[in-house]
Amino acid sequence: MKFLVINGVNLNMTGMREKGVYGTATLAQINDKIAAFAAANGDAVDFYQSNIEGELVNKLHEAYLQGGYDGILLNAGAFTHYSYALRDAIAAIDIPVAEVHISNVHAREEFRHTSVLSEVCKGVVCGFGAGSYIAAMVGLKDGFTK
Ligand code: DQA
Repeated sequence: MKFLVINGVNLNMTGMREKGVYGTATLAQINDKIAAFAAANGDAVDFYQSNIEGELVNKLHEAYLQGGYDGILLNAGAFTHYSYALRDAIAAIDIPVAEVHISNVHAREEFRHTSVLSEVCKGVVCGFGAGSYIAAMVGLKDGFTK
């Protein structure tokens, strides 16, 4: 299978910001772990990060229109909590999307308990650091979702 991992706003600062919440691994190190897991399972994975909402929308559209992806892992960062534009983009594409968070958003501030994306996602994983992406990838694999 082929997956696309999309990280949104502020995720490029992972490993450097709020280390007590997001850990010390950089996004590049997290991506290396995801890539190694995918390779070990015979899967392929591409990575994309942007702090710009419209670029994330464009990437979701492009992934669908160009084809080739079986699943998308999306950590939209704070956009998760209020971006109806991202929600509509997920709803517009016919690729299963997993909502991913490094931290346990439900154990944090009230505003993080709301996701406007979950309803249009296949599933949600949060709280396991880099493991959230791995668990989401497992969840999207054939045999678990069908
Ligand atoms: C996050 C959680 C969001 O609430 C926050 O705005 C982020 C990261 C996570 O991965 O835990 O930037 O998506």
